[in-house]
Amino acid sequence: MTPVFFVEEARAATGGERREFSAPIVSFEALTADQFATPVISAVGQPEVRATLIALWRGSAFATLVSPHAWLAQDAVIGAGTTIAPLAALNRLVTVGAHVLVNVGAILSHDVSVGDFATISPGCVVGGCVSIGESSFLGIGVTVRDHITIGRGAFVAAGAVVIADVADGESVRGVPARVVAR
Ligand SMILES: CC(C)(COP(=O)(O)OP(=O)(O)OC[C@H]1O[C@@H](n2cnc3c(N)ncnc32)[C@H](O)[C@@H]1OP(=O)(O)O)[C@@H](O)C(=O)NCCC(=O)NCCS
Repeated sequence: MTPVFFVEEARAATGGERREFSAPIVSFEALTADQFATPVISAVGQPEVRATLIALWRGSAFATLVSPHAWLAQDAVIGAGTTIAPLAALNRLVTVGAHVLVNVGAILSHDVSVGDFATISPGCVVGGCVSIGESSFLGIGVTVRDHITIGRGAFVAAGAVVIADVADGESVRGVPARVVAR
């Protein structure tokens, strides 16, 4: 049987004592101990945690999950190891990279590209002709206006409305979104 579990960095989470959705929470240390031989999905919210997991399991096959309750235009391109959650909608000419999480109810309008390891949180609305860089994080309910570029490793706080480009590694929040120190 394939084990199903959540992963946390905290040492306190070892031993399966804590549970979420009835599944045990295990630590990175437990994973390196080889007891979980068949990784399945890495639907982790934080891009850097997801990247760490994938590096730990280098050489393994990761499932690409598209919920039957998501809607994808016929020409949508989804990378390996990516999760598309229920009620997400991917319109025409959307390209999503590898190991991306497009969470519940997120909308990616036409001509959108999403880089590897990015996270699009629940309820995000991304306008047309937008590029979202590798390992970027868009929090819950973020709106991105059309014709915007969000750089690699950017962080967009929950509820922000992005109306100007966001540079690599930049952190923004608010309406309209402004740069803040991380
Ligand atoms: C931006 C974020 C990281 C800030 O978290 P934090 O550091 O714990 O922030 P705090 O709650 O201590 O608030 C610090 C200040 O930032 C403001 N602030 C916090 N989150 C904000 C947000 N999303 N947008 C605008 N302002 C925000 C607070 O009002 C507070 O302002 P003040 O100092 O004037 O009172 C967090 O709000 C966020 O957006 N996280 C992403 C959550 C998410 O989308 N998760 C996905 C789950 S599926």
